[in-house]
Amino acid sequence: MAIPDSFIQELLNRVDIVDVVDASVPLKKAGANYSACCPFHNEKTPSFTVSPTKQFYHCFGCGAHGTALGFLMEYQGLGFVEAVNELAKRVGMTVPQETRTVEQVAAQKAAVGMHEALQVAMHYYRGELKKSEKAIAYLKGRGLSGEIAARFQIGYAPPGWQNLAAVLPEYQSDVLTAAGLVIANDQGRRYDRFRDRIMFPIHDQKGQVIGFGGRVLGGDGDDAGPKYLNSPETPLFQKGHELYGLFLARRAIREANRVLVVEGYMDVVALAQYGIGYAVAALGTATTPYHITKLMRQTDDVVFCFDGDAAGRKAAWRAAMNSLPALTDGLKLSFLFLPPEHDPDSYVREYGKEAFERAMQGAMPLSQYIVEKLGEDNDLLSQESKVRFLNEAEPILKQIQAPRLGLLLRKRVAELAGVSLEELEGSLGLKQTAVKRAYQPARSSRKPPTLVRRLIHMLLMRPALAERLDGRLVAGKGVEDEILRRILELMRSQPQMTSAALLHALQGDLPEQLRTELSAELMEADDGLALEEEFAGALQQLRVTWERQVSTAAELLTLAQEKGLQALTPEQRALLQSSRWGHGKS
Ligand code: UTP
Ligand code: MN
Repeated sequence: MAIPDSFIQELLNRVDIVDVVDASVPLKKAGANYSACCPFHNEKTPSFTVSPTKQFYHCFGCGAHGTALGFLMEYQGLGFVEAVNELAKRVGMTVPQETRTVEQVAAQKAAVGMHEALQVAMHYYRGELKKSEKAIAYLKGRGLSGEIAARFQIGYAPPGWQNLAAVLPEYQSDVLTAAGLVIANDQGRRYDRFRDRIMFPIHDQKGQVIGFGGRVLGGDGDDAGPKYLNSPETPLFQKGHELYGLFLARRAIREANRVLVVEGYMDVVALAQYGIGYAVAALGTATTPYHITKLMRQTDDVVFCFDGDAAGRKAAWRAAMNSLPALTDGLKLSFLFLPPEHDPDSYVREYGKEAFERAMQGAMPLSQYIVEKLGEDNDLLSQESKVRFLNEAEPILKQIQAPRLGLLLRKRVAELAGVSLEELEGSLGLKQTAVKRAYQPARSSRKPPTLVRRLIHMLLMRPALAERLDGRLVAGKGVEDEILRRILELMRSQPQMTSAALLHALQGDLPEQLRTELSAELMEADDGLALEEEFAGALQQLRVTWERQVSTAAELLTLAQEKGLQALTPEQRALLQSSRWGHGKS
């Protein structure tokens, strides 16, 4: 059923993204591009931009970006194949079927297999819950209604080592271990990962089950293992990216225009039962920048409410720190601190929805939280304590890219430390306070881009330039080097690829953050004539660097031959090794 890449390229060449987007989100011409208020987050001034020449969209507010195909998938919630069919229909193309290699077929089958296996397991666990008085009693004891248990597809994995074999007859298949349902030990014995636990399925944004959290019945877990056992990281499930409850909460988040981030499975479920449907939880990990970015696509009001205990407070601070690079002026982040004896679950049960929502109104804004936290254990009376205060504030201030928020926070910090804003900015080496563009790539954007990064950028702008770059010169081991090699490889196999097609083809290879940055850079760059010259210059630089490395390597090699490898420092040895590898490729 796979669709050949070449067809996707052709399709992206034929459609005009401006028409595709305009049909759902009316666009206005703005210079060379088109713009509108972003359909993926709430905003009042348009930062959603569509480029007719580059054939992709990018939102400078929330970072959403992609091709015409990506737009249909995000906006209409279509799957990839559906979106391809939809687009093809519009331009009158027929979607062909591909003849694939055995490996490709196997890989795709395995992915489908994992989804199916997880789905089967979920249904099995739900069925078992209905049969288990003990499990029902536990959930009832915790105040869960049958209705809410059904909504969250909660189930029960009974005791026993190979229960899943009854519903998944291919119990020996690698698919089950890869999906995290079955564990194979060193002796080759296979057994169910989840036994005698209440099961909380975890869904991706399309509503497919991608993993589970399993809770012991009663107690906080000890003999029977940890209180919560989660699926391991699998090809379908990465904890740092997923949020429990997001799929079910989507609608409520849009309606309330707010999301509540809590710590636990039970918090999400209890809040939903009490009418607060817009809660999600990070999965036993710290809230990551990915999580924040994901949430920002849905709403611009994010409230964190962690447990009132010390661990909860620590988690809150980590979430605050992780959110810094993702902040924008339009985003409201706040923190609700519960009394130490409460978590959101117990709080909503005791005081109800209205009280909870009232408490949320009084949640502490991020900027206040930061200032209060920095001022904790610091009387700010002596010069030394002021210095300490500034030292602690520095890394925080430097990570904030949102211009107005950053400005206000710097002002407040300066006041507290008894210096002027100019003095503070001078001493931190920060730019003066001109309010800059609302969006800046979250990357450590103060560093100038590396040579390789510039090359990637230029190739994305004008893929045909790839022809002129000798792949042997790109021998580094960094992420960017790998991406550059991948681009060259793609262009060699499909020389006609356009920018949008290339960006699309790279999707699986690029970390989301990097993709957002590149997309923003591309949208901002104007593809004038200077590109050719710039590219020639960068090539020249690449060649010089390479030659220098080769000659250093040659010297080191001589040294090693004369005096032995011990005569080299570890760095020199590494260099020698990497350049050998570079030669090997040629
Ligand atoms: P909590 O212990 O606060 O969870 O851990 P909870 O949901 O309130 O649990 P109840 O009320 O005792 O049932 C918060 C989250 O941390 C992760 C889980 O995601 C849990 O929901 N966690 C906790 C684990 O992954 N493993 C553990 O052993 C404990
Ligand atoms: Mn709890």
